[in-house]
Amino acid sequence: MDQTVSSYLPLFLEGEVIKGFGRGSKDLGCPTANYPLDVVKKLPSEFKPGVYYGWAQLDSGPMYKMVANIGYCPYYQNKEMSVETHIIHAFEKDFYGSNLRIAIVGYLRGEMNFDSLNELIETIKQDIVNAGKSLENPESQKLKSNIFFGKP
Ligand SMILES: Cc1cc2nc3c(=O)[nH]c(=O)nc-3n(C[C@H](O)[C@H](O)[C@H](O)COP(=O)(O)O)c2cc1C
Repeated sequence: MDQTVSSYLPLFLEGEVIKGFGRGSKDLGCPTANYPLDVVKKLPSEFKPGVYYGWAQLDSGPMYKMVANIGYCPYYQNKEMSVETHIIHAFEKDFYGSNLRIAIVGYLRGEMNFDSLNELIETIKQDIVNAGKSLENPESQKLKSNIFFGKP
């Protein structure tokens, strides 16, 4: 892994799930859980924007794999940095207001711009596959039972 990235990973974040711009599920078919700005501000100053994989837990629920876009979403040109976590699980309903704990385990790629929404969607699908694979390695698996997470 890139030296800068490995200096701050794994990284643990916790906070309430708030509404984002709502494009995640509408435009992309890929719902994302957003954190308020005070949580985003806890990222180290050297944090490299990009797509990361890791573990997620809602309240004291089960552990799920996740893939997160952490940055400015060049396709949408956001002004503020955001942490958008896509939990790899089909949920029946929204979970705004829940507490979300994440362990950011590894870096997949830098944020990119796209000529079409379709390319963004296809890239995200591939990210989900890559995240799933990377989380199977023993180093990643260890973090799933880190003391940071509550007992399900
Ligand atoms: C795994 C993943 C990868 C993403 N990669 C990019 C990217 O490379 N470039 C980009 O502009 N946005 C990227 N996005 C961000 C989406 O544009 C973002 O989730 C969308 O703007 C929804 O935001 P909203 O929930 O605030 O509406 C990615 C999102 C996810 C979940």
